[in-house]
Amino acid sequence: MSIDSTSPIGIFDSGIGGLTVAKAVMDTLPNEDIIYFGDTARVPYGIKSKGTIQKYSAEITRFLVSKNVKMVIIACNSVSAVAKAIVTETAGELPVLNVIDTGTKAAIKTGKKQIGVIGTLATINSGAYKTELLKRDDSLVIKSKACPMLVPLAEEGWTENEVALKTLSIYLDRFRTNGMEALILGCTHYPLFKTSIKKVFADREIEIIDSADAVAKSARSRLKKLNLLNTGEKPGNLSCFVSDHPQRFRELAERFLGREIPDIYIKQLQE
Ligand code: DGL
Repeated sequence: MSIDSTSPIGIFDSGIGGLTVAKAVMDTLPNEDIIYFGDTARVPYGIKSKGTIQKYSAEITRFLVSKNVKMVIIACNSVSAVAKAIVTETAGELPVLNVIDTGTKAAIKTGKKQIGVIGTLATINSGAYKTELLKRDDSLVIKSKACPMLVPLAEEGWTENEVALKTLSIYLDRFRTNGMEALILGCTHYPLFKTSIKKVFADREIEIIDSADAVAKSARSRLKKLNLLNTGEKPGNLSCFVSDHPQRFRELAERFLGREIPDIYIKQLQE
């Protein structure tokens, strides 16, 4: 099968979080078909070792390539932090975008100097954001915090209740007192907590940065450059593949996207 402008865009995450990116891609590129893979059988990735995340990421990339995608978007910071190289290698000639590169660029654009980063253990321990940010501006002050409880809460749909608020206020406490001007949501599950995060920072100004819009814009310009933008009139279709529990994924995904997702399939990837 050969790739052309009508081929779908492949997007993947460990679970539901990458839908924050899929949503931004659908808003920016409404005519593109999307194949989304959420590894719901093996979520969370953020507490797993580098080797395991690399193995899972290569399996998913092979699956997306078999679906004839024209681009792969890594909608997972944990994968972007530790498995970007293996995804790029597995994707061969295909363009690969990741949320850490675009999130970093979006943070630099704000002009803020004191930047907080929250993410999974894998992302924060990798130091990927810090390295990328300091490469672009070594005068930045960066404080990071791993928030491992947030992904299970998001997968449960508990993003605005009192458990979410209490958990966030404990994790974010250090950013309330040390003059932080911007906070990078370094996990694609975290935008689901945006309303609650704003409540925690209700008494102070802090810019919240999520990479979803930035990665969607970057996808548009890359596809344009490669002459692969779908210029058809037909609205794009979202097909979701999950490795377990499609019903639960459907409920959360439809609530989050505010629309029905007719095409949700199970795909197990063990080799
Ligand atoms: N949403 C993912 C991220 O951006 C993964 C979270 C997880 O599976 O732990 O890091």
